[in-house]
Amino acid sequence: MIVVKPPGPRSRELLAKQSKLETKAVIYPKAFPFAIDSASGATVKDVDGNLYIDWVSGVSVLNLGHRNPFVEEAVRSQLGKVWHALEIPTETRIAFLERIHSVLPPGMKGKAKVLLTVTGGDSVEAAVSVARRVTGKRTVVAFEGAYHGVHQGVVSLTASSHYLDYAGVSRENVFRLPYPYSYRFPLPVENKDDESKVVIRYLEHLLEDDHSGLDDLAGILVEPIEGEGGYIVPPEDFLPGLREVAERYQVPLIVDEVQTGFGRTGKFWGCELTATTPDIICVSKSVGAGIPLSLIAYRSEYDEKLEEGFHLGTYRGNPLGMAAGTASIDYMKRTNLLERVRTLGEKTKVEFERIADESKNVGEVRGVGFMIGNEVVESKETRKPSKALANGFRRSMFEQGLLMHTCGHFGNVLRFMAPLTIEEILLDEGLGIYERAIKSA
Ligand SMILES: Cc1ncc(COP(=O)(O)O)c(C=O)c1O
Repeated sequence: MIVVKPPGPRSRELLAKQSKLETKAVIYPKAFPFAIDSASGATVKDVDGNLYIDWVSGVSVLNLGHRNPFVEEAVRSQLGKVWHALEIPTETRIAFLERIHSVLPPGMKGKAKVLLTVTGGDSVEAAVSVARRVTGKRTVVAFEGAYHGVHQGVVSLTASSHYLDYAGVSRENVFRLPYPYSYRFPLPVENKDDESKVVIRYLEHLLEDDHSGLDDLAGILVEPIEGEGGYIVPPEDFLPGLREVAERYQVPLIVDEVQTGFGRTGKFWGCELTATTPDIICVSKSVGAGIPLSLIAYRSEYDEKLEEGFHLGTYRGNPLGMAAGTASIDYMKRTNLLERVRTLGEKTKVEFERIADESKNVGEVRGVGFMIGNEVVESKETRKPSKALANGFRRSMFEQGLLMHTCGHFGNVLRFMAPLTIEEILLDEGLGIYERAIKSA
């Protein structure tokens, strides 16, 4: 419901103040130039009275919507108890730990320990540190298009060099492989089904050949579906293939579920789509429903190698975040949300596919559940990515009252990441706005 063309006068005023007071390195106020007054469920109200449909969910942080009433109640109750408690147990902490254990991927259930962290990047750093500690090695295999956060380096400034035994990842300790990105796969393959096999075969070769340059592998780090990389769904044999290599060479498979976790794909975890069991799983974003909280869970036996004070951070395990996390898991279980995501996600993808078929500029639609990417191209024949067009569509949708963000290797993928609780009427309304924007090109 747009009452004044955004950005309205009050939004412009606040945006101007922000740019005077805050770094110009911000991103989102440029993508969505408005100021927020309040938000509820799958809607956001700006300070000029416009109401938007939210398909961004704070980048997958708000899987249960803004201020989910059930979660809000739990946070309110925690507000009256304690806000910061270090690692000392509280009823809230134990309840949260029990809940998170109860939803771990089947192969990890009853066999894992949890280490709390603060942000997504922090959880990935902790995961890599654990992998290095247990293997005594340093190098990590990661993939093209991956996004795991931007923490790094500060440990080198900390005066105790002990942490450098495992923490901090320098570029010389990263070995990067292609992710099986079918629409733009860089290597020649006879058959599309062979894309992950080629990548995995190459990884095996690196591990078999003493002169490959990869001789101290500490772990394989992978997103089950690449998020920031462009909502890229790999072939079904990709994760199981990595699992198999990890097993054979006795290195941890680290699965980054920061964006794919908490029901986004219609399974609780993205790795469950292919029944893959991680050795270490990274969890953040929706686990705290908007309150910074993250964690890793890892195979229990790794615990033997982790000394007191392994991976630090004052804010780890915030009680408000943990109260939100427990309530979120309970809510998901009670409402059978995953089933909803699967059926509604499939229906939504069909609509995106129809619009793509009828448009000149959407080259591919891909995704699972509520994680659907639309690859914007100059033309379907050339497949040339067009960030300019994608940004134009984003702006046009914004002006019509729909928030939809981009991602991708080339910034040209429009991604659907609505709250999993979005009302169907808002989903349909949003699809109408999306279609008008795409077809106006
Ligand atoms: C898959 C993945 N891992 C890690 C991160 C980093 O999380 P944070 O921004 O909380 O550090 C992100 C953020 O988008 C992500 O998508």
